[in-house]
Order: sequence, then C-alpha cells, then structure tokens
Amino acid sequence: MGVGDNDAVANQGFTPTQLSARAAYLLRGNDLGTMTSAAPKLYPHMWSWDAAFVTVGLAPLSVERAVIEMDTLLSAQWSNGMIPHIVFANGRDGYFPGPARWECRSLAAAAPQHVDTSGITQPPVHAIAVQRILDHSRRRGRTTRQVANEFLDRRWGNLVRWHRWLADARDPQGRGRVTIFHGWESGMDNSPRWDSAYANVVPGSDLPPYHRADLDHVSDASMRPSDLEYDRYLWLVEQMKRAHYDDALLPGVLDFAVEDVFVSAIFAMACDVLATIGEDYSKPRADVRDLRAWSDRFRSGVVAATSERTNTARDFDLRAGRWINTETIAGFAPLLCGGLSRERERALLRAFEGPRFCGHPDLRYAVPPSNSPIAANFKPREYWRGPVWPVMTWLFSWAFARRGWPERAARLREEGLRQVREGSFAEYYEPFTGEPLGSMQQSWTAASVLDWLD
Ligand code: SER
Repeated sequence: MGVGDNDAVANQGFTPTQLSARAAYLLRGNDLGTMTSAAPKLYPHMWSWDAAFVTVGLAPLSVERAVIEMDTLLSAQWSNGMIPHIVFANGRDGYFPGPARWECRSLAAAAPQHVDTSGITQPPVHAIAVQRILDHSRRRGRTTRQVANEFLDRRWGNLVRWHRWLADARDPQGRGRVTIFHGWESGMDNSPRWDSAYANVVPGSDLPPYHRADLDHVSDASMRPSDLEYDRYLWLVEQMKRAHYDDALLPGVLDFAVEDVFVSAIFAMACDVLATIGEDYSKPRADVRDLRAWSDRFRSGVVAATSERTNTARDFDLRAGRWINTETIAGFAPLLCGGLSRERERALLRAFEGPRFCGHPDLRYAVPPSNSPIAANFKPREYWRGPVWPVMTWLFSWAFARRGWPERAARLREEGLRQVREGSFAEYYEPFTGEPLGSMQQSWTAASVLDWLD
C-alpha cells in the first residue's frame, strides 16, 4: 500500500473507482493463465462455484478472458456430467487435500485423464456466469459477440449435461432436492446446518494421516473448521474413494447424505436462467423443456421443505430421516428461486430483513450473516458459523433484482460495497466489527465488487 492508500483506509475506505481498479488488479494477480486461483495462498487452484463468480467479475473487464475461465472449468467436467469442485492447477502446492489424496484419475472411471480434479461437486451457479458473458458481449463489438456465441455453441451440451447429472444422479427419486454427500458440496463447509449429520460420521481408525495446509495460511485457527471436522471431511473422502466415486454406489456407502435446500434453490434458478438463454439463442427445444421441468421440480422441492411456522427452508438428513432445523442463511433459499405464496414470501422477506438477520441491531452493515446472530451456535469469526460472506450478499442482490425487487437489490449492493471498501477483499467478515477474516484477496469478493460497480 502507498501513502494515499493509508489515507483512504483512515477515511473509511476507497472510492468506487479506486475499489474497482483494485479488484481488477487483484483478479489479474490471481490469474494463473487459463484459470484464476480462488485465493493466492489458501486456495491456489480453481474452485467450481468460485470460478463462476469470478467469471461474473471478469466479464465486464474482458468477455474473452471470462470465456477462458468457463472453458477451463468445463474442460474438466467428468464424463458422467459432474463439474468437480476443484480443478487443480498444474504444479501448485500448498493445498490439502490435493490430487494425491483424491486419486480421481486412477480410481474414478468418469474423471478426466488430462487434468487433476477433486471427486465431489459444488453449487450450480454457472448459468449466471454464462448469462453475464452473453449480456456483456452484447455491449461489445461483433468480434466479441462472436467469441461469446461460439462459447455458447461449444459449451451448451456441457451445461445441459451438468444440469442433467444433478437432476438424475443427485435426485434419483425425483423429490426436487439435490443430495450432497459431503459438506464441501454445499460450499458452506462447516455451517451448523451439517452438525447433526456430521455427528454420524465416525472416522475409522484406518483414516490415513494428513497435514492440514489451511492452517499454514490463516492467522487464527479459530477462523477455520476444527480438527475433528477435518477428520470427518477426510473420512468421507475415504468412503468415496473406496466406492470409486461411482454415482450408483455413493448413496449406499456414505455416512453423510443430505438434501441441500440452498443448492436445490440455486439449481431451480439456474435451470430457468439456462432455459431462457436456450430460448434466446435457439438451442434444442428438448433441452429447454428439460431445463424448465427441472426448474419446476426443484422449486417445488424447496417449497415443500419450508417450515409452516417460519417459512424458512430446511435441509433433509437422509440418513437420520429428518428435517434439519437450524437458523442459517440457507433458510432463505425460497427467496432465490420463488414458489412461495405472496403472503409467505413477504413474511420470509421480513425475516431476512428483520432483527434475526440483516436487521440485527449490532450488525455493522445490513447484509445477511451466514448464521443468525441470535442462534446459540453463532460464532462471529468462524467460517460459515456466523461471518458475513460478500459473495452471498452478491448472490442475494443479483437474485432479488431478478425477482423484481430492485430496491432490495440496491440496498444489499450498497451495504455490501460499504462492507468491502476497506479494500482487503476478504473471504468473509466479522459481522459486528467489520474485521476482514479468512483469506485476503479472495477472487470472488473482488468479482462481486466488479459486478456491483460495473
Ligand atoms: N472450502 C474447502 C476448503 O476450505 C474446500 O472446498 O478447503
């Protein structure tokens, strides 16, 4: 930082122009050539949903570079249709579990051979990135529009296969909710949502030893999941490896199997976004029909998961056969995909904006924390147990604009920008003090800012 920068911090942050310049500079710094690392130290590879949000941030800078990001991710798609949650950068160390622990190339018949990936998936937000690529390309010249159109022609099949895999392999009984077999698949690794389901994951004595690399990169271990949680994370990976990451076997062997209502809402929304793109760009009618049908099915699945009393949506623990009652950001899933009656939706919006969430009187900024500040298990500094994640604020603001609530979207955008104007682009923030936590220079935080300020 230069002297001027320090002044800016002392004055409560950077101007919008400075902030977007810094965000662009950050993404450039995290650019490894054909992929952007999720963060320089803690996450030195490509993460699936990070890559989608990064693409949203790249699109206003360069549609061509944004296309490369999605191409890299989609090139690593498995032959069954799954987009893996990590695409490993060649020759980069410093992250655990790396390719040697996952062993996908040698164990999984569906894994690609030309690149190393993890063996699980992440939330399907990619249609948003594709939409942003196409939207930005329409503001540019013919050559750029052609790059975007060719990308869509080249990748339409990948995108539909990805959605088909989620609908078929992860909801074989057509319940309208996506099953996850690992908390990492939710993207919200250690959210209290998963505590009860993880209590049934008992690591065997044959869990191979390991060294956590994440703790080498954060200043305070209490910002990360605990060692016991990590044992469970790694035990599930062992169980998957023993089943050769076979979709048909996972439901029978994994100690953790939960219908994730937030992923399901994202999926319902993403199917609609993709279907509209398909209509606009004359893609096969059968694909568009399938996408609309999945959107309806998963929207209904989300609505069916809502509590009559609170209107919030709940995850379903398939192993225990019961609804999971926690009070986290995921409860607001129906606001993303719609489907509730007007009255119930208004009540849910009031809850989102009320004192148990964005309207809690002690919050520094009126943005949704990952866990309710009044929940007994709320931890203001611990990863998904309380901190505010700017990319979640972005997702809700984007979804609210799409749902026809421009004022609400604008409020989240303003508060989200106030939050990050100190300029560290942190992974997450302490809700009461605004202290930046976790990884600094997180790519998706910069991407959110770039989209907000575009
Ligand atoms: N978020 C996980 C991690 O912390 C993996 O997806 O490594």
